[in-house]
Amino acid sequence: MGGRYLVTGGAGYVGSHVVKALVDRGDEVVVIDDLRQGHRAAVPPSVELVSINLADRRQVADVFAGWKFDAVLHFAALSLVGESMRDPLRYCIDNLSNSLIVADAAVKSGCLRFVLSSTAALFGFPKRIPIDETADVAPVSAYGESKLMVERGLDWADQVHGLRSASLRYFNAAGADPSGQIGEDHDPETHLIPLAIGAAMGTRPPLTVFGTDYPTPDGTCIRDYVHVTDLADAHLRALTRLDRGSCRFNIGNGTGYSVKQVMDSVERISGKPVPHSLGPRRAGDPAVLVASSARLREETGWSPRFGALDDIVRTAWAWHSAHPKGFGDRG
Ligand code: UFG
Repeated sequence: MGGRYLVTGGAGYVGSHVVKALVDRGDEVVVIDDLRQGHRAAVPPSVELVSINLADRRQVADVFAGWKFDAVLHFAALSLVGESMRDPLRYCIDNLSNSLIVADAAVKSGCLRFVLSSTAALFGFPKRIPIDETADVAPVSAYGESKLMVERGLDWADQVHGLRSASLRYFNAAGADPSGQIGEDHDPETHLIPLAIGAAMGTRPPLTVFGTDYPTPDGTCIRDYVHVTDLADAHLRALTRLDRGSCRFNIGNGTGYSVKQVMDSVERISGKPVPHSLGPRRAGDPAVLVASSARLREETGWSPRFGALDDIVRTAWAWHSAHPKGFGDRG
């Protein structure tokens, strides 16, 4: 028999891929999403979508009172690193308080399993690569700090209330569901792969490469791109892992690719050049971020299906070329 899950931010990029994975395996899902960033069309019609603001404690409590959830998966958050440095208090206030409102409502309703969408931004400028779960946490953005505060709040909720949580620190989520039904549609879009694809398609301006003087083989930043379907699978495995208590996992493919390698991949897959210019570094970008996901693999048996960059870019290209306006629900 399937479970019943609450997914906040389930109409967003990673959230909607997790909703699809849960529905595909026969679980019942309720989504909370205020649709500021999320898309109605990203949620399967069979899934109830409750469009409320998480800051409204009473309405959140009402959702928990109306259903008996086996677990909550919490994605809804502000997630733009650059924006967080222009408005740090908003990021800290919104991300911390909304997350803890959800956790509090979960505890009060007797739902004691919580999966948090966390981030590699916790690690700031890491001392060692690959980054495992023993690495120092030292965020260099208010976004990273806000997620760290949530992780710490969840630790206390475990100690005091027995709320088991899995904090999943994603590296660079990328790609689209292989069915072609859902994919990435942010506004504003700040991520490398959709911007490079949009430049190749001619639907976005030429890409600016942020920095060519990093201490990397080709001078551009190296990141660990992990397919969103593999991320979704990690969430399902984390739910099972919670039977053994709270946990934290870094999630990436374990291989880094430079900005230039990503552009080369987009050119290979699309057969089109990526128009671009070379620009200065973007503030706050570490040279290299690559995850060690050894703990996730050992403890849950997770292994990425889309390990190769070209496989990730191929699904992203398929989504963007079939949906040049994304879900098509913006004015
Ligand atoms: N980049 C460019 N030009 C662009 C956009 C990005 O050169 O127009 C470069 C960036 O400098 C970076 C790489 O492409 O080196 C990837 O950038 P993204 O913006 O796609 O992703 P980030 O690595 O900056 O951020 C991701 C997540 C964040 C998370 C962070 C963790 O999107 O939510 O990883 O460090 F916080």
